Amino acid sequence: MIKKFLAVLACAALVMGVTGCSKDNGGNAGSDVTTYKVGVAIYKYDDTFMTQYREELANYFKSLETDTVKYEVNVMDGKGDQGEQTNQINNFITGGYDVIIANLVQPTAASVVSAAAAEQDIPVVYINREPEAADLEAYPGKSTYVGADARQSGTYQGEIIAALPDHGDINGDGKVSYVMLVGDPDNVDAKYRTEFSIKAMEDAGYTMEKLVEQRGDWDKAKGQQITADALSQYGEQIEVIFANNDDMALGAVQALKDAERTVGEDVYLVGVDALAECVELVNNGGMTGTVLNDHVGQSHAAVDAAIAALNGEELEQYYWVDYVKVVKK
Ligand code: GAL
Repeated sequence: MIKKFLAVLACAALVMGVTGCSKDNGGNAGSDVTTYKVGVAIYKYDDTFMTQYREELANYFKSLETDTVKYEVNVMDGKGDQGEQTNQINNFITGGYDVIIANLVQPTAASVVSAAAAEQDIPVVYINREPEAADLEAYPGKSTYVGADARQSGTYQGEIIAALPDHGDINGDGKVSYVMLVGDPDNVDAKYRTEFSIKAMEDAGYTMEKLVEQRGDWDKAKGQQITADALSQYGEQIEVIFANNDDMALGAVQALKDAERTVGEDVYLVGVDALAECVELVNNGGMTGTVLNDHVGQSHAAVDAAIAALNGEELEQYYWVDYVKVVKK
């Protein structure tokens, strides 16, 4: 009993950052406590959505701990640099980690990451930036992608505008003139949201006129700059701003304010993520709508997949979490 208590204490110290026992090193031989080492590689910390995602991921691991199972979760900031992130992941692999959760800077790196992990038989759960199917197939049952289908989020953005009384055609000239704030090409979310928001409008029978489509790297300041430039070039002509995410939409909110444009009256604005600040704006009319990118559902699904793999279960190739439309209550 005392022995077990000591082992629990030792592992609690480990969870608090002190190295020690793990399932593999036999450091707690004779005790009933197993500590799994979980390596989490985030593409960069400076991203609002991924910050809430990684915080929920760590909290959820913590909540699943028991007297006999602990998770030592080590989260790393890839700083938007694939070289740096690959080193971090290699350190997980050589450091005897039991499972890796990877939000790759460049999803094409999945082939290298999976190959290195496979050599040590370490399962990999990819999140947020979807790798090629072939890269998942190359490490079957031991690698998976947990995410949301970005086509759905784009479609929802288009449907939110299509459902408005004027369907986004504020000036009644028979076409919807828009600005597209694009995320970054390393995440297929950007490509699909750009494509499917417009497709949903066209499928509903509306003519679309693209005024500006520019890359803003999911970033608020860039969203603001692109919108400000678009407003000075096209002014009143702009009827709808589609932002691939809420951070860029928040930048657009600021630029629209500076240009004395009023959302819901002379312009519409939709984002994706449903950041708390944006849900509030949607409810008070400051944004037309957003789409919930369910970081809770996705982080929990990622952790559940990681734990299934730790328990020796075969992983499916994909685990999908739905987006949800968010409009004024
Ligand atoms: C998207 C999200 C963006 C950004 C991006 C990072 O799913 O909507 O806000 O976090 O992932 O890859």
